[in-house]
Amino acid sequence: MNNRSRGTAYNNGAVPFSFSPAGFTSSLRSRLSDTMSDSPHAAGCRSAVSDDRNLPDTDLLTPLTIRGVTFRNRIVVSPMCQYCAANGMADDWHLVHLGSRAAGGAGLVFVEATAVAPEGRITPGDLGIWSDAHAEPLARIAAFVTRMGAVPGIQLAHAGRKASCRLPWEGGGQLALAAGGWNTLAPSAVPFAETDRPPTALDEAGIRAVIEHFKAAATRAVKAGFRVIELHAAHGYLMHEFLSPLSNRRTDRYGGSLENRTRIVLETAAALRAVVPPELPLFVRISATDWVEGGWDLPQSVALAKALKPLGVDLIDCSSGALVPSAKIPVGKGYQVPFADTIREQACIMTGAVGLITDAHQADEVVTSGSADLVFIAREMMREPYWALKAQQALNQEPSWPTQYGYAVKRRT
Ligand SMILES: Cc1cc2nc3c(=O)[nH]c(=O)nc-3n(C[C@H](O)[C@H](O)[C@H](O)COP(=O)(O)O)c2cc1C
Repeated sequence: MNNRSRGTAYNNGAVPFSFSPAGFTSSLRSRLSDTMSDSPHAAGCRSAVSDDRNLPDTDLLTPLTIRGVTFRNRIVVSPMCQYCAANGMADDWHLVHLGSRAAGGAGLVFVEATAVAPEGRITPGDLGIWSDAHAEPLARIAAFVTRMGAVPGIQLAHAGRKASCRLPWEGGGQLALAAGGWNTLAPSAVPFAETDRPPTALDEAGIRAVIEHFKAAATRAVKAGFRVIELHAAHGYLMHEFLSPLSNRRTDRYGGSLENRTRIVLETAAALRAVVPPELPLFVRISATDWVEGGWDLPQSVALAKALKPLGVDLIDCSSGALVPSAKIPVGKGYQVPFADTIREQACIMTGAVGLITDAHQADEVVTSGSADLVFIAREMMREPYWALKAQQALNQEPSWPTQYGYAVKRRT
């Protein structure tokens, strides 16, 4: 496996839950076993409407309210690492990058994977939020995104064994200790690429520390003005490494059974819900499948989503892959939408769809067909910061230009 293909993942392609360790295991066990016995339709959401007169008239441009937060449309700027932070600090690039997409009409604008601890950065250029100083420039971004009418969200992340990489435009791949790299953490001492330094397997104290980092990060993020918090449990990073039997070889209560492998994600989600105010949404991004036989898969994702919902998680953002370099992924237009659709239907929870959704009509169809509640757009938003305004135009709605532009651009007609 060469370093280039290892890269970084992105190179390749209403009641707050109060966590109770005593009650946790038995309630989790029952939730997971419920999942296994449910028929898909027992949990189905869409069949909740009795006739077509009651079908909600919902499309890509319909506002959505989750808890106390209203998104002006269903268009989300997906988290996208910019790899240009110094010591984890956001700067003018991040402000302009995210600010212009908020001015471009998106409903929700996510700050990229933001590390909850320095060793949780994918590269030395990742954003971080492990100190109050980090929250200051992020607060400026949250304020500007809000001023532009979008909701500011932030994705909280720990890269686990895929931390300590070179910048993608410097070839990706693991960064040597001598070149400024660091030792990585994981559920088990199993490296991502065979040639990588093996990660250190976290002990229980280490797991507790990681959860505390997430909790402290979320507290800072909320104080900084972010109104959606997303837990990054996808793309082969730390949380996903615990979920998948391919990277989790533990024999303690954090490894082995599905219940054990999901434990850290559920504990972290519960810890986040405890500090994220009840009026603010909590999302979890997952890789719905590893695309590898014997790995994490869609039925396990449905089980996880069912277990996350009663903890106060509002939406599952459905991505896939990036746990192992050998996965063969059938990448194509909207190829991950079926995951959002199945999880929404079977776990009866809101979902976000992402992955090669580039066109307004395609994105609209994702919502109108009931496959997902939100549509996350990544690379096409890089190509076109005004994607959401253009989508309004394509879907025959008057584009909601910022006032400073609107009076002028409308003159053309
Ligand atoms: C440059 C770049 C950076 C990315 N950074 C993140 C990230 O920080 N967190 C994350 O969950 N996904 C990240 N992704 C994945 C995207 O959010 C998205 O899931 C993926 O690109 C597929 O969507 P698209 O086809 O619209 O680009 C990144 C993707 C790209 C291209």
